[in-house]
Amino acid sequence: MAAPRWPLLLAGRTVTRGEDLARRTGAALLPWDLADPSPVSTRVRAVVTVVNDPDDRVLRAAVHGGVPYVDLTRWTARLQRAATVAALLRPTAPVLLSSAWMGGVASLVVADLARTLGGADRVDVAIRWDQNDRAGVDSVEFMDRLGLDFEVIEDGQRRTVMPLADSRTAHIDGTDLRVARIDTPEQFTLPLTLGTVTASTRIGFSSALSTSALLAAKRLGFFRWARGERFTPLRRSLLHAPGNGGTAALRVDVTHRGRTGSATVTDPAGQAHLTAVGGLLALDRVLGTDGAPAPASVAFPEQTPLPAALADRLAAQGVTLEKTVEAHGTQDRAA
Ligand SMILES: NC(=O)c1ccc[n+]([C@@H]2O[C@H](COP(=O)([O-])OP(=O)(O)OC[C@H]3O[C@@H](n4cnc5c(N)ncnc54)[C@H](OP(=O)(O)O)[C@@H]3O)[C@@H](O)[C@H]2O)c1
Repeated sequence: MAAPRWPLLLAGRTVTRGEDLARRTGAALLPWDLADPSPVSTRVRAVVTVVNDPDDRVLRAAVHGGVPYVDLTRWTARLQRAATVAALLRPTAPVLLSSAWMGGVASLVVADLARTLGGADRVDVAIRWDQNDRAGVDSVEFMDRLGLDFEVIEDGQRRTVMPLADSRTAHIDGTDLRVARIDTPEQFTLPLTLGTVTASTRIGFSSALSTSALLAAKRLGFFRWARGERFTPLRRSLLHAPGNGGTAALRVDVTHRGRTGSATVTDPAGQAHLTAVGGLLALDRVLGTDGAPAPASVAFPEQTPLPAALADRLAAQGVTLEKTVEAHGTQDRAA
């Protein structure tokens, strides 16, 4: 990613680990362990949280300080709590909960297609997880929720689904891939923000063998019976085996009044980079770099003003967005 346009402050538990990145980006370093309740004081224009913040310490600090806030890390239940905590604190600066897939990029693409189509009655997101891609240890907590059912909306009705259920084939970036359900925040937010009546997100792995193994493990009930702490190392060893780098790819299909728009996002620099791009676009929106800043309230990515020409903004970071939208009347002819 290009060098930051602003002075950057990197926070973490071990500042020596950030030294190389700080040198490359000209950033300053701040020791901050989120497990430690002692307050940390600093002056910043905005905060982007890229590590799990289970006690909402960064969120609370940002809201108390009236500082624009972005979070990229929360699974649905944590996002729901963050929205509640922030609403109760009455923020005076934007609180952008941008944990939808790839730091909110999936939801920005949904909003982009919805703008073209005039709405988003149905949204299907399909993710291709490249097993050569890198993923840090903090990511494994999100993946390690495959034993927990979650709520979705289908045809306007709420129902509970199991992770890795409802598998189907999706065509992503030139390949057919078996994908199955996973709990991601956009399935919760899109029905609330865009009036979506069916929202689904599915994930598949670049190796068909791995996808089959995970689906078989799910069918055998592995993720349910191995929920206990005793099995944590075993579960996590199955879910967290990062490689040296791969391509991030996802496909988004949005249907409104029978007309469908589809988009594929690919980032050869991988999922960590694409998530960082989502964070950068979110930062631009809470700071108002692209126009009016996001409102001083809780918001989700699809609600905040979109950067003009999303494809160009992504392309500037090496990310490709390819879109096709059915012409008016096509769906009538197809029917
Ligand atoms: N929304 C999305 O689509 C998406 C996509 C990818 C990742 N993510 C999320 O992004 C997060 C980071 O993933 P990652 O792969 O970058 O993980 P990672 O490589 O483990 O990075 C975690 C970072 O947080 C710091 N950290 C860890 N524990 C901390 C603590 N208690 N207090 C302060 N800093 C702490 C670490 O530095 P120190 O060790 O020095 O503290 C490190 O810099 C995960 O929560 C993941 O689920 C979201």
